[in-house]
Amino acid sequence: MQESPLGVGHAPGKIILFGEHAVVYGRPAIAVPLTQVQAHAEVFPHSRCVVEAVDLGRRVDVAEATADDPFALVVRLTCAAAARELPPWRIVVHSEIPIASGLGSGAAISAAIARALLDAWDVLLSPAELSRLVYEVEKLHHGTPSGIDNTVVVYATPVWFVKGAEPEPFHIGSPMHFLIADTGVASPTRLTVSAVRAAWEQNRARYEALFDRIGAVATAAREAIEQGDVRQLGSLMDRNQALLAELQVSSPELDRLCRAAREAGALGAKLSGGGRGGNMIALVEPVAVERVAHTLRRAGAVRVLSTLLGDR
Ligand code: PMV
Repeated sequence: MQESPLGVGHAPGKIILFGEHAVVYGRPAIAVPLTQVQAHAEVFPHSRCVVEAVDLGRRVDVAEATADDPFALVVRLTCAAAARELPPWRIVVHSEIPIASGLGSGAAISAAIARALLDAWDVLLSPAELSRLVYEVEKLHHGTPSGIDNTVVVYATPVWFVKGAEPEPFHIGSPMHFLIADTGVASPTRLTVSAVRAAWEQNRARYEALFDRIGAVATAAREAIEQGDVRQLGSLMDRNQALLAELQVSSPELDRLCRAAREAGALGAKLSGGGRGGNMIALVEPVAVERVAHTLRRAGAVRVLSTLLGDR
């Protein structure tokens, strides 16, 4: 018989619609949860505190793990936040969210683990507290994260995000369909973030100007989303992609998928997340969803997901 867990936790993936990279430098960004893919954690009684992530081929004994292990860190931080000792529990993690592809898998796994522990103890943390906790773990993955991933994954709602400020939920004027296509190229965000930082250090004026332009696109995009203006939103995605290419974080695979999506009728397309691999997103009218998805697969996408923004 299947043992029933002492506690369970879940968290969705996420996509960044606008403003990646510039958000690290204080400009606004827009991100939405991707509920089609989730991370799950379950807690069972055990002799020691271990985290097992079968899909990732990892088993971590928390008491023995080094300080830079993300699984051990999230368990230790959750114990501290809940004022508990390390529990003799086995925390089993399953995630449907592809790793190193800009879909927020690291933040979602951390949030799911923390929630499963809190559920087992029957302790409540506010979303702001949980988001801060996950942010500490994100620092291991990213180096200098803006905090957008932990925020959208924990709040599980579309957010207007500015580093250091409270996330702002915002109104979605009409439902919008997005396709999310994976290049199949793993690209750790830490590397693209540090490449952009190195380039910014070489030429601050040029990069600050690019970040300003990306911030202005994100501001215009919020207005287009609130007004339900999909055509305007599509062209803003194309503009954001051109600016990301100037930041040198696009790639031949991302460019190919963006072009293919537009040629098949998408209203706009851009990379999402750190870039140089991972996923791109395309805004599509409902009638074009199948056609664009098919074209993206033919153009080399290894997986295409679809999501509807503003369906509630
Ligand atoms: O690669 P992702 O989806 O985790 O997104 C990173 C977004 C960046 O703006 C590139 C970095 C950050 O910390 O905001």
